[in-house]
Amino acid sequence: MNSLRINGARVEVWRDVGEISERAAELVIGIAREAAGRGEFTLALSGGSTPRALYELLATEEKSARVPWEQTQVFWSDERCVPPDDAESNYRLAHEALLSRVPVPAEHVHRMRGEDEPGAAAAAYAGELEKNVGAGDPRLSLILLGMGEDGHTASLFPQTDALKDTVHTVAANYVEKLKSHRLTMTLRTLNAAATVIFLVSGAAKSEALSKVFESDAVADGSLPARLVRPAQGELIWLVDEDAARLVTNKY
Ligand code: 6PG
Repeated sequence: MNSLRINGARVEVWRDVGEISERAAELVIGIAREAAGRGEFTLALSGGSTPRALYELLATEEKSARVPWEQTQVFWSDERCVPPDDAESNYRLAHEALLSRVPVPAEHVHRMRGEDEPGAAAAAYAGELEKNVGAGDPRLSLILLGMGEDGHTASLFPQTDALKDTVHTVAANYVEKLKSHRLTMTLRTLNAAATVIFLVSGAAKSEALSKVFESDAVADGSLPARLVRPAQGELIWLVDEDAARLVTNKY
């Protein structure tokens, strides 16, 4: 593994998504145990396909046994505006790969209600965060994120309104290119976290990833993942060699 520190972020370059997932699982377990020791572990899961392997690893006996599930509260960074049993649902992915296989109390699983009217669902989820994490800027123990080829993260897509939302902790974000709304934590919430871990795999992400770390890139809405920088927290990028091919020879 090649570990770099770029603009304050810890970047670990691993061989492939399998190694990223194994590393992420161990980081999750360590953060979970430390947070639970101080009271509670509040975790936000990412959607997309990359984290599936991580979720399946955390559901294995060996790893699950080391997670303090009783002290764990599960949230999502974002959700598609679909019912929970829809193939597109981030909840469904996490439920199938992890939550249905581990002893996390059902009342500790805080689903974004993608089936509801987006504005109401976003407001309701902001209330869920306030009730279970805290008022003001909700400081989750750990937020897992992915990144799209266009540099989006959670459901903060380039040049979308939610990127500019500094008032709400959760937004109903209309994404023109998807012709649909998405529910998403805003940068206010992402950047309040104690730790954010990005999992990025594959050559298709290499262009966006190289731009994320460019110090001279303007902090505009063109590359949302670049705007995730926890104010009082740790930022870790777990990337594979294919995704990092344009980065490693620059730093
Ligand atoms: C979502 C995710 C999204 C995802 C990226 C990367 O709801 O789709 O939250 O931000 O992390 O699109 O997705 P992959 O892991 O499938 O490449």
